[in-house]
Amino acid sequence: MTTIHLAVFGIGNVGSTLIHQIQKIKSELLKSQHIAIKIPVIANSTLAFFANDNEMNWKLDFEKFSEPYTIEDVIYHFATLNVEHAIAVDVTASNHFIAHYETLIKNGFHIVAANKVANTLDYNFYKRLRNVLKANNKEFLYETNVGAGLPIIETIKGLLQSGEQITKIKGVFSGSLSYIFNQFSEGELPFHQVLNNAVNQGLTEPDPRDDLSGKDVARKLLILARELGINVELSDVKIQPLVPKHLNGSATLQQFNVQTHQLNDVFSAQKLKLKNESVLRYVGWLDTAGNTLEVKLISEPKASPLGQLKGTDNLFEIYTETYKEQPLVIQGAGAGKVVTARGVLSDIIKLSRHLQKINVGKFV
Ligand SMILES: NC(=O)c1ccc[n+]([C@@H]2O[C@H](COP(=O)([O-])OP(=O)(O)OC[C@H]3O[C@@H](n4cnc5c(N)ncnc54)[C@H](OP(=O)(O)O)[C@@H]3O)[C@@H](O)[C@H]2O)c1
Repeated sequence: MTTIHLAVFGIGNVGSTLIHQIQKIKSELLKSQHIAIKIPVIANSTLAFFANDNEMNWKLDFEKFSEPYTIEDVIYHFATLNVEHAIAVDVTASNHFIAHYETLIKNGFHIVAANKVANTLDYNFYKRLRNVLKANNKEFLYETNVGAGLPIIETIKGLLQSGEQITKIKGVFSGSLSYIFNQFSEGELPFHQVLNNAVNQGLTEPDPRDDLSGKDVARKLLILARELGINVELSDVKIQPLVPKHLNGSATLQQFNVQTHQLNDVFSAQKLKLKNESVLRYVGWLDTAGNTLEVKLISEPKASPLGQLKGTDNLFEIYTETYKEQPLVIQGAGAGKVVTARGVLSDIIKLSRHLQKINVGKFV
């Protein structure tokens, strides 16, 4: 039997759902795979609960017994347990938590993250993290950084390992922007009403300009580019933002909300320019020929995979030497706590099975 100890950092939407999913599959995993998963540490930004393991009632225990902590307290707690393999799970939305990665790795932890920050900072940090992982024989899995539970990074890695040359990746990487342009392109509603509908259904960030700025799509594109070995920074991504400067920057959310009708003319003009049987899509576009990375609004034939996109789905078209004319297409829900937690859990199990096979990288 292989025992995996987890320290779960972040108990918001994804973290709580993940703990719940682990509790549900625990006994089956032990029976069928001979892998025991334990969660001796659960933490948010200020408090942690230390135990031997956490059971179904972890929320109550956390409320009653959690205490202020440092990362060293977590490392110490793991050292006091008979830990075979340790994984730190970063399901925070924090810019700061990644500062602990190096300490955790050097103290025996592998990392599984939904948090994108470590992969989107400057390239020096990205490279340094990989060097530290290699030097300490540790793994870092982050499938949910792009497309939530969809197997995007794994597919790209598999293609590269099998000698495929990836030439282009193009797709809709944002659920909210997928919804907005799927509705706007084919319906009759003016743009501001489609946007309001998306906000009212909770599909956008609280300030929808965070989605409309294109930055989140750009971050995902950057992660994919780096996966292909392209040495780029976020500033290298050419972004066509969907909000004009005067409605962003110093304009408050309230000021923006009462002026969203100003967006109508811009997008109606784009819609009028569409050729027959075409629709608008806001895409991330990576071309390896010139290492170009763009986030832009394009016209797409209705009959294409991107043109047929519905609801809030994400869609990734991957072009390679083999998938030249017809791309390899991955489509499905690209956000949401359940699919994201499932993706994180899938990374944890993949890593556990790897550790079970090689039985190296034991906690030190
Ligand atoms: N939700 C999705 O659909 C989705 C999809 C793909 C990826 N993701 C990624 O998954 C991550 C989690 O998302 P979420 O929706 O679960 O966020 P969330 O609901 O805002 O929860 C964030 C959690 O992280 C904790 N946290 C913040 N800073 C921390 C720190 N320095 N150390 C330890 N814990 C810290 C917060 O604790 P406090 O309450 O104390 O602040 C909170 O428990 C994010 O990085 C997000 O980008 C989410």
